[in-house]
Amino acid sequence: MARVLSGIQPSGVLHIGNYLGAVRQWVAGQSSNEALYAIVDLHALTVDIDPAELRSRTFETAVTLLAAGLDPNECTLFVQGHLHEHNELAWLLECVASYGELLRMTQFKDKAGSRESVRVGLLTYPVLMAADILLYQAEQVPVGDDQRQHLELARNLAIRFNARYGEVFTIPEAMIPPVGARVMDLQSPRRKMSKSVVSPQGTVNVTDSPAEIDRKVRRAVTDNENEVRYDPENKPGISNLLELLASTSGRSPDLLAGEFTSYGTLKAAVAESLIGELAPLQQRMQELREDRDLVLGALAEGAEKARELAAPTLFNARSAIGLLAPR
Ligand code: TRP
Repeated sequence: MARVLSGIQPSGVLHIGNYLGAVRQWVAGQSSNEALYAIVDLHALTVDIDPAELRSRTFETAVTLLAAGLDPNECTLFVQGHLHEHNELAWLLECVASYGELLRMTQFKDKAGSRESVRVGLLTYPVLMAADILLYQAEQVPVGDDQRQHLELARNLAIRFNARYGEVFTIPEAMIPPVGARVMDLQSPRRKMSKSVVSPQGTVNVTDSPAEIDRKVRRAVTDNENEVRYDPENKPGISNLLELLASTSGRSPDLLAGEFTSYGTLKAAVAESLIGELAPLQQRMQELREDRDLVLGALAEGAEKARELAAPTLFNARSAIGLLAPR
């Protein structure tokens, strides 16, 4: 069994891209691995977010993950901010990372862009992420392609720390899903569906009502032809719809294409399958929202299990780097 760790930001309502991509992957991986999943609330502080909203989104993210089938008996589900160990290791790693290598992170460059005031946390974000991973001696880290560079940094920091101060950390490996295994924006099908891109009509949230799902799918951007064919390069809109149908039905997009003679019938089938996929999830989410104790209890137990792994690593890192242990 491999030790697997991944993280998700509580930065908004989850959409079907997160759900069909990451979350279902997490659920599938929890029984065959020793899996740890973190709701990374500290990372959400790197951008503007209303305090009350952050709190409720963190809870709502836990609700969604539990409703999707993460089982606290199978995996360790916890909130990053519940463990001070993450911040402590992040500081040690900040004293191993260089300013230059953080400035080179493409996500930092994109987000900082031409903004007048850039939070220091946005710069050190990938070091905190490295701490998330290295604290648990994770071997595999399932992430999207956009996190490749951050993973590389985590590996480099681990290698550098180990070389300088002694073998403390396992060197993690990224597990990037194959291209095609991602959901594109319904309005701009060449762009990944994203919480941060403001495209409400192109994004189907897991909390959308059947009517909203139906409307968004029917208005999805396609092309001026009328042939249903799987061809992501030339027909990104139709191919995305076929992939959505494929990921809810378990059949291949190519095969599915042959079953539709019009865009209208394809869209109707996609809407119906998404509504069917999300209905039981939404039902369980509603039940969990009403059982705050159960959700918070699961997170408390998760944090306790996480700490059992994190504390010894932090102790070893502190001692290796030369901090005097308190009596
Ligand atoms: N940066 C990741 C993202 O935006 C989230 C994240 C934080 C993460 N810590 C992590 C992912 C540790 C994997 C492992 O998607």
